Amino acid sequence: MKPTILFFDSGVGGFSVYSEVKSLLPDCHYLYCFDNAFFPYSERSEETLIERVLKICTTIDRRYPLDLVVIACNTASTVVLPSLRQTFSIPIVGTVPAVKPAATVSQTKHIGLLATKGTVKREYVDILIAQYASNCRVERLGSTVLPEIAEQKIKGNSVDLLLLKKELQAWEGLHDLDTVILGCTHFPLIKEEIQMCLPQVKNFLDPGCAIAKRVKSLLENSKVRSKKEKNNCVFYTKHFNFEQQFHQVLKRWGFNELELLKID
Ligand code: DGL
Repeated sequence: MKPTILFFDSGVGGFSVYSEVKSLLPDCHYLYCFDNAFFPYSERSEETLIERVLKICTTIDRRYPLDLVVIACNTASTVVLPSLRQTFSIPIVGTVPAVKPAATVSQTKHIGLLATKGTVKREYVDILIAQYASNCRVERLGSTVLPEIAEQKIKGNSVDLLLLKKELQAWEGLHDLDTVILGCTHFPLIKEEIQMCLPQVKNFLDPGCAIAKRVKSLLENSKVRSKKEKNNCVFYTKHFNFEQQFHQVLKRWGFNELELLKID
């Protein structure tokens, strides 16, 4: 039997992590949930995020016994991991901004953390920076608009480059900023466009590849809970425009079903 892995995000960002895991482990049972009813998570309170993510993961686990959960959302990961690990006995993998590799790879020791408004101000991030990047000047830029731009792109709309440029304006003049941490899972999906706005940046770092390796090693000795073969499925929490068209995109990514999740 294949292990069942759930990817969770507020939106489509988690697909940037899913694609790394899927290319390393093509043969797992994949579930993905995007909480579009509460998107964006950027400025939501910590209590709301904890309650919401726990409820959704528990609801899905009741229907599909999960073997591993990837919280493919930095904003949620910075607050929900302890509660999830208390509730579930399976491995819970979080998404942490790649501060350590960024500090190592930067030549100028001037790096930027690009994330949501919530993530940039979390204590979790203060600790990461103090621990791994104390030798660097670290800029933080929090945006609620950027994840929305990525959502639009994945749903087939064009990227508003002027809006993107405006969001990134604060870093335009930082000529020795050579490394940017993509601290939101939506951002690898618009990496080329971000690069166009910040041509001085040599390295863009995201944790997708490291997460894939971690998932592989965690699954190595685990026992699969489900006894039945099931389809790969994407759950969402609120109806949206162009659901049918999006379903076709999801099929190409390996998901046969798209289903509205009823949360009790
Ligand atoms: N993809 C999410 C993250 O990694 C958050 C996007 C949002 O809902 O604001 O932080």
